[in-house]
Amino acid sequence: MATAAAATQPKVDFGEPTTPYAAYAGIDTLHSLLRPRSTEPAETSFIVATQVMELLFDLLRHEWTQAQQALRNDDLPGATAALRRGLGVQDVLVSSWDLLATMTPVEFASFRPYLGEASGFQSYTYLHLEFLLGNKEERLLRLYAGSPRVHAELTETLRAPSLYDDAARLLRARGADSWAAAYTDPRHHELALLGELLLDVAERVTRWRQRHLSAVKRAMGDKPGSGGSSGLSWLRKAAEQDVFPEIWEARNVL
Ligand code: HEM
Repeated sequence: MATAAAATQPKVDFGEPTTPYAAYAGIDTLHSLLRPRSTEPAETSFIVATQVMELLFDLLRHEWTQAQQALRNDDLPGATAALRRGLGVQDVLVSSWDLLATMTPVEFASFRPYLGEASGFQSYTYLHLEFLLGNKEERLLRLYAGSPRVHAELTETLRAPSLYDDAARLLRARGADSWAAAYTDPRHHELALLGELLLDVAERVTRWRQRHLSAVKRAMGDKPGSGGSSGLSWLRKAAEQDVFPEIWEARNVL
């Protein structure tokens, strides 16, 4: 009869000042970045939520850029794989709002003065995603006039085709003159699936915006934003905007 193998304990002595785990993932640096400015305990989740979402925005940018490269190479399976990885990132982004779900207006008000004029509106990682989606507002580049690297990267994305442009170009290259044609002609079945996948992306973008809106409404009502906007009403307009409107509009004629 086979006997169970003896369980070997993990190694605990590396003879180094830090563990290989901490060295690999930059753990000491990571934790050193959590620096609340107030004594309000809820500020900690606010900072962690912001940092987690920033990292996820950047990961999403990576996946969407991969998808664009694949679309440019007429590689639909490659594009699909990257967009599907992106959907996972987007789902985590949407759930990340749970970190702030319990924050009361009194808690938010007690650390808000410490933010000064800081606002997510100044997130260049988020702006990058907006440009990739095709929402290009050149005027916002001014925010980054003082950071040549960020400014140059954003300018490049602003001038380049968006994720949507690349999908639309592939559509035309494969002989479909509209999304409606892709959906109705069985020869374009794969393009219809791409359209559906892009709407999965679109819905998750909207879901993130809506949860942001709810978090703002709960934490501060309709007071003006720290970034200088009117707050809720400005965010509501952005949340109401369709992502990839051409694919939604195809629904009107199908
Ligand atoms: C309860 C907490 C939060 C409140 C009250 C809040 C409030 C606001 C407000 C009022 C704006 C409009 C711009 C302004 O005038 O400031 C804004 C924009 C924005 N916030 Fe937040 N925010 C919160 C949490 C977050 C978090 C955790 C993130 C993640 C990074 C974030 C990312 C953004 C982004 C990316 C924008 C720009 C949106 C766009 O351009 O459409 N916010 N926020």
